[in-house]
Amino acid sequence: MNQDEPFFSNSVPVLAIDGPSGSGKGTISRRVAQHLGWHYLDSGALYRAVGVSAMKQGIDLGDVQAVEACARRTQIRFADDAKGEARVWVNGEDVTDELRLETTGAAASAIASMAGVRAALVQMQHDFRTGPGLVADGRDMGTVIFPDAFCKVFLTASAEERARRRYKQLMQKGVSVNLDSLLGEIVARDERDASRPLSPLKPAADAVSIDTTGVAIDTVVAQVLALVEKSGLLPEAS
Ligand code: C5P
Repeated sequence: MNQDEPFFSNSVPVLAIDGPSGSGKGTISRRVAQHLGWHYLDSGALYRAVGVSAMKQGIDLGDVQAVEACARRTQIRFADDAKGEARVWVNGEDVTDELRLETTGAAASAIASMAGVRAALVQMQHDFRTGPGLVADGRDMGTVIFPDAFCKVFLTASAEERARRRYKQLMQKGVSVNLDSLLGEIVARDERDASRPLSPLKPAADAVSIDTTGVAIDTVVAQVLALVEKSGLLPEAS
């Protein structure tokens, strides 16, 4: 996003949940959104979708111009299938399973540092902001995409614990991985995400940080909901 462009806010409340991969953002954000009856934005899925789109078209991920052009023309659609499971389509193809692979995460992280890729995804993210509210999960939800979010949370966890969680998730999906190499990939991805000049992974100045190492998901969900309630900005109906 061009940082000089004026930011137009709207009155729909946003809860921004940022943090590194494996910090529990996805699961916690989904549960909080479900509890509140709000929409949910998995912004990482958009970067992953562009990465998958570029790879499927044989685009060199180091070719900035080609990847940025690909981001502008990639069609991304989120929808539930007949069984009510969330699926993601890229250019008409269901890529849900590929999207979760660690290689896709690494591709997403590589292209997420490109200004044209980030710019191509801004409007799509803002479009998720519809009533009664939005829980937005990512790296720059509270800092860049929704700086006026009424509540901002930054989730962390030790790299070892995050690698273990990712390992479990992938094994449950039948994807066989090596825990040590997963840890190496996660640390490398964090470093790249935190050190890039554009929208780096960092807590917003007004974010509340929660370390989820060794903490049960339900406990973190309850902590986040308590923060939302404490903000006093929840509309009456929620
Ligand atoms: O959250 P997830 O692991 O799906 O994100 C994949 C990659 O997409 C991250 O490593 C990061 O580089 C990028 N990303 C981003 N900004 C976001 C969400 C994800 O740069 N808001």
